Amino acid sequence: TASPSDAFVFFGATGDLAYKQIFPALQAMIKHGHLDLPIIGVARSDWKVDQLRDRARDSLEKHGGLDADAFEKLAARLQYISGDYQDDATYEQLRRAMGDAVRPLHYLAIPPSMFEPVTQGLAKSGCARDARVIVEKPFGRNLASAQSLNRTLHQSFAEDAIFRIDHYLGKESVENLLYFRFANTFLEPVWHRDYIASVQITMAEQFGVQGRGAFYEEVGAIRDVVQNHMLQVMALLTMEIPMDGGPDAGSDAIRDEKLRVLSAMRPLVPAEVVRGQFHGYRDEAGVPPDSQVETFAALRLHIDNARWTGVPFYIRAGKQLPVTCTEVMIELKPPTHAVFDADDRGQSNYFRFRLSPDVLITVGARTKVPGESMVGTATELIAHHHPGDEMTPYERLLGDALHGDAALFTRGDTVEAAWRVVDPILGNAVPVAGYEPDTWGPPAARQIMAGDDQWHNPAPEEASP
Ligand code: BG6
Repeated sequence: TASPSDAFVFFGATGDLAYKQIFPALQAMIKHGHLDLPIIGVARSDWKVDQLRDRARDSLEKHGGLDADAFEKLAARLQYISGDYQDDATYEQLRRAMGDAVRPLHYLAIPPSMFEPVTQGLAKSGCARDARVIVEKPFGRNLASAQSLNRTLHQSFAEDAIFRIDHYLGKESVENLLYFRFANTFLEPVWHRDYIASVQITMAEQFGVQGRGAFYEEVGAIRDVVQNHMLQVMALLTMEIPMDGGPDAGSDAIRDEKLRVLSAMRPLVPAEVVRGQFHGYRDEAGVPPDSQVETFAALRLHIDNARWTGVPFYIRAGKQLPVTCTEVMIELKPPTHAVFDADDRGQSNYFRFRLSPDVLITVGARTKVPGESMVGTATELIAHHHPGDEMTPYERLLGDALHGDAALFTRGDTVEAAWRVVDPILGNAVPVAGYEPDTWGPPAARQIMAGDDQWHNPAPEEASP
C-alpha cells in the first residue's frame, strides 16, 4: 500500500540537519510541484512559527538559493510546535496540527538518543498509526547498538514504514552506477572473478573535520563513511541481479540482494586494515591531545561467494587527502595470450566510475598507436556528466519516502550486516598511524594491496571532454 504521505513532520526543526538539508529539499520539492501538504516542524526551542520561517529563509539563502515563489508557499504551509520530546502534550499538539492527515511522514532529525522517547510519544498519541518515519545515521556505533536501535524503532514502526537515509544512495552518480550495471548486456559476462582482477573504492576529501572535532571523535572514518556509504556502494557493485517478484516486491528486490552480498562479505581482520590520522587533527577543538580516532582508513575486503571468491576489494577513505573525489576502479585481468609485443601489455581494461564531484563512467581500453609497429596505448571511452540542476540526494530521498518507495533506503537487516563486517576492527584493534595533510594517508596503506596491485589515486575534477 504505497499511498503518498499527507503530512510532513520534522523533529529537530531548529537544528543543523534541518538547516542544511531539509529546508533546501522542501523548497526544491515545492518548486517542482511535488509537495502540497502540511509541513510541521517540532523542536524544544520556545519559538513562534515566524522564527522558524526566518530560519528557513536564512537556510535557503545559504544553501539552496532562495526561490521567492516556492519559499512563499513553504512559509505558508509551515507550522511550528515547541515542546519537550518527553512530554505527552507535545504529541497531542502534533495530532491537532496534523488535522485530517491520516498518513504522516515523520523525519527524526534529532540525535539517536532521542529516538526512543520520540517514537514512543508518536505511538502513544496515535501519530505513528499508518505513518512512515525517516531516520538518519549514525545507525548505532557497532553491531550491538545497531541491533538495539532497530529494536527501539520496531517497537513503534513496522520495518516497511522505516526509511533509513544514506544520502549516498540518493546521488545521481550512484543511481547511474546501478543503472549502468543492469541496463547493459556487455557488462554481466565479465562481471565476476574470471575477468575482474580487483576492485577499489576511494573516497577522498581534501578538507579536515571542519570544526566538527567533537562529533568526529565519536565516529572516525570507519563509522562515518565506510560502514555506510562505502559498503553500500560496494554492495551495489557486487550484488546479484535483483529479480522483481511482482508488483509489490519492487524495492525489496534490490534490498534483498544487497543483504545477501553484505552477508557474504568476510568480517574484517586487523591485518587487512590500516588506520591513519592527519597531523593537526589533535589540535582541533573538541579533540583530545592523545586521540586515537582515525581520519583515514584503508581496508582489504573479500566476498565469499561464487561470483567474487578470490577477488580483492580495496576501500580507502580519508580527510585531508590531495583531492576531493570519490571513485571506483574495477581492474580487469589482462588478456591470457600476449598476441602483440609482450612489452606492450601496459594497463589493460578497466571500468572507472567517478561518483563525485562530477559523474564519469569510463572504460579503459588499449588501442594501437598509428604507425608501422603494433604498439598500443591506453585509451578511455568516457561518459561524462557535469552536475547541474538535477535533484539533490535529499530532494530525491524525501520524495521517495513520501511515496513509500524504500528502494534507496537501508533496511534494518542490511545495516546490521554491514556492522558485522566492520565490527571486529572498531576501537583500537588496529593502531593509528600519522600522515601529512595533502598526502594519500600513512605509507602503511600500501601494505593493504595484495601482490602487484597499486592504489589508483583519483585526479582532481576532470574537464568535460
Ligand atoms: C557524511 C559524512 O555522511 O558524508 C561526512 O558524515 C562526509 O564526514 C560526507 O564529508 C560526504 O558526503 P558528500 O555527499 O558531501 O560527498
